[in-house]
Amino acid sequence: MTSEKLAGPNLNSLCGFEVIDKIKYLVKEECPITVSCVDILAMAARDVVELRGGPRWDALLGRKDALESSFSGANILIPAPNSSLEVLIDNFKQQGLDIEDLVTLSGSHTIGRARCLSFRQRIYNAKEEYHYGYDHYKRYTSFRRILRSICPVEGRDTKFAPLDFQTPKRFHNHYFINILEGKGLLGSDNVLISHDLDGKTTEQVWAYASNEKLLIKMGNINVLTGNEGEIRRNCRFVDA
Ligand code: HEM
Repeated sequence: MTSEKLAGPNLNSLCGFEVIDKIKYLVKEECPITVSCVDILAMAARDVVELRGGPRWDALLGRKDALESSFSGANILIPAPNSSLEVLIDNFKQQGLDIEDLVTLSGSHTIGRARCLSFRQRIYNAKEEYHYGYDHYKRYTSFRRILRSICPVEGRDTKFAPLDFQTPKRFHNHYFINILEGKGLLGSDNVLISHDLDGKTTEQVWAYASNEKLLIKMGNINVLTGNEGEIRRNCRFVDA
């Protein structure tokens, strides 16, 4: 089975698995084959959001671990940072999420970092920034100058920049203000306003700036329960 970790969007990007291994080890010592790896992930996500100043929610538990990995699914379904707004909308639709969800969930980029490889295209090809007038463009160019110093036209692919420059370590809706100011790091953040033909997503960038509750919806995509899936002994491998 080829691991999803090796799929294009995940390769050299996903990390931190050792944290889950450690939690799994400790939980397994107390209570063998009861808590699934995916439940551990759901609780870790809930806790990290709260620890970083975001909202708390009740994680729905009792999820089972998948019996297989989908390398091709990960390649097809995970959107690229330079995806068009149409592609993003379509990807989300395939997971039962609508445009409103796309805007709100993109707000997760309030936290974390991206590699130069992920935002290079955005900072060396940004003609559309002119659309928003001189002030917007000026703000964007000073932001771009900083990003270009981190990420040259070639090389330094693995250098990082924070997804939210204002409050990189806080779960905060400043993300939305950033994109309105032309300071969204990824192309996919920026297209929410720059390629929005009917004004729908732009309006939502404002309207949903403080609605963090939809994160719960994201966590409930394709959940395996009951007789589906398994509880893995080791989170890195399928048992069955
Ligand atoms: C709208 C489509 C999305 C695209 C195109 C996208 C793309 C990306 C990319 C390219 C990165 C940086 C990866 C790297 O450079 O290694 C990233 C980071 C991240 N994304 Fe997204 N993402 C999207 C939606 C989401 C959603 C819905 C969530 C969660 C609900 C999310 C949460 C995160 C987090 C937390 C990070 C930072 C990870 C870290 O610092 O380790 N993203 N995303």
